[in-house]
Amino acid sequence: MLAGLAAAGVAAAVPARLLRAAEAPRFRTSPFTLGVASGYPGPRSIVLWTRIAPQPLAPGGGMAAEVVPVEWEIASDEAFRRIVQRGTAYAEPGWAHSVHVELTGLEPATWYWYRFTAGGQRSEAGRTRTAPATGAEAGRLRMAVASCQQYEHGYYVAYRHMLDDDLDLVVHVGDYIYELSWGSNLVRHHGAPECHTLDDYRARYALYRGDRDLQAAHAAYPWMVTWDDHEVENDYANDTSEENDDPALFLARRAAAYKAYYEHMPLPRRMVPFGPNLRLHCAQAFGGLVNLLMLDERQYRSPQACPRAGRRGANRVTNNCTELFDPSRTKLGERQEQWLAAELAASKAQWTLLAQGTVMAYVDEQPGPGEQFWTDGWNGYPVARDRLLGTLATTGVANPVVLSGDIHAFLVANLNQRAADLGSPIVASEFTTTSISSQGAPQKAVDERMSSNPNLLFASAERRGYLLLDVDNKRLQAQLVAMESVSRPEAGRSLLATFVVEPGKPGPVRA
Ligand SMILES: [Fe+2]
Repeated sequence: MLAGLAAAGVAAAVPARLLRAAEAPRFRTSPFTLGVASGYPGPRSIVLWTRIAPQPLAPGGGMAAEVVPVEWEIASDEAFRRIVQRGTAYAEPGWAHSVHVELTGLEPATWYWYRFTAGGQRSEAGRTRTAPATGAEAGRLRMAVASCQQYEHGYYVAYRHMLDDDLDLVVHVGDYIYELSWGSNLVRHHGAPECHTLDDYRARYALYRGDRDLQAAHAAYPWMVTWDDHEVENDYANDTSEENDDPALFLARRAAAYKAYYEHMPLPRRMVPFGPNLRLHCAQAFGGLVNLLMLDERQYRSPQACPRAGRRGANRVTNNCTELFDPSRTKLGERQEQWLAAELAASKAQWTLLAQGTVMAYVDEQPGPGEQFWTDGWNGYPVARDRLLGTLATTGVANPVVLSGDIHAFLVANLNQRAADLGSPIVASEFTTTSISSQGAPQKAVDERMSSNPNLLFASAERRGYLLLDVDNKRLQAQLVAMESVSRPEAGRSLLATFVVEPGKPGPVRA
């Protein structure tokens, strides 16, 4: 609260451009405790990020309520001999002294190195890469897909291994932080209760971003991100909280959570939040090869159908829950659905990747006769799901592949045009990544699902890890990379399975 009030005062009284370096604070230790990051690579643009926080877990990051000039520079070589651009950004207390530098005028498909200097201290260097030019020859794209990184459940072994993968991009599909503690055999602790206020969420991001392996993955590659529920509250839906709080009260909490998200992610300026609203969904082309659509299935969705008595949030329901089939219910919201349909109709890329939080494949959780559905994922929004899958079919968009998270398990699936009708045409492939660290279900549970759902081709719940995607004009290959353990930071990894999708043949095939 102090930081927010002071920000308005300072910023109004002293325009940032008039602040002279001589008036800026000097730091005796590095204020770059949360590392550096980059994101949203365009052919000529990139977003660079850092945050000034000498005491990252303290309110305000240990900073006084003052504007701090932060010099940035970007070079075409690792030694910073060939600086291509430099400038000064102003870290404001109202934005937790975060810095988002949105650069243009860069070269396509090029590696760059960047760093920041403030108060006599210099950050470590980050490395980033721009996207290929629009319409460029296919080439290849290599990316990791990550999800669900409960800090208490394990170390970020997966991010350590990603450093060896020579990626172009990291895509995160949600549960970047957890607002609350849960689970057993914890390896470390939040040291704070469930997040509700802006200071709570800021401190939670600072704790997670203090992790050296996570920092290293941000410093090594550009990222694109979307969220699921735990960036705010378990199972929330639009303005409906799991606790069925007053929507006005919950939206104030959502505004705090979204603000902290913006402050800690390398998001472009157009995503700056306004109160409880942050326009996160976007499209990014990687030459003529990939159109990457980042979807937001949390902010605009209808509440989950048929909740438990006295609660909101997810439930397991049968077809007796008629609300499930109400066509007015939405998972993306009407405007995002319209935007997506237009993007799909216009997409000329060889592959269209839809990255989003929750499982889209039809999953009947009732072994044997009868059906049962988990209402938080797309199985709780069957009409909206069929609208989306129908749009994939009617637009004829080339080679759609859905990338999902949330369930702390690898899941590889066919997506049928009418999801519950496994006789209808297969229109897309789905790869759901396991968690980076969050605890999963027993393997027995996913084995049961496999037996009653022939559209599911592979399921593994016991290992943490990530998806490693290699895309070129001949195929999309998905490797399911599994950690041997997340109880030891230096644990090894192994390859669980490899699937391939070929152009014009929707549906993954085990390699
Ligand atoms: Fe999760």
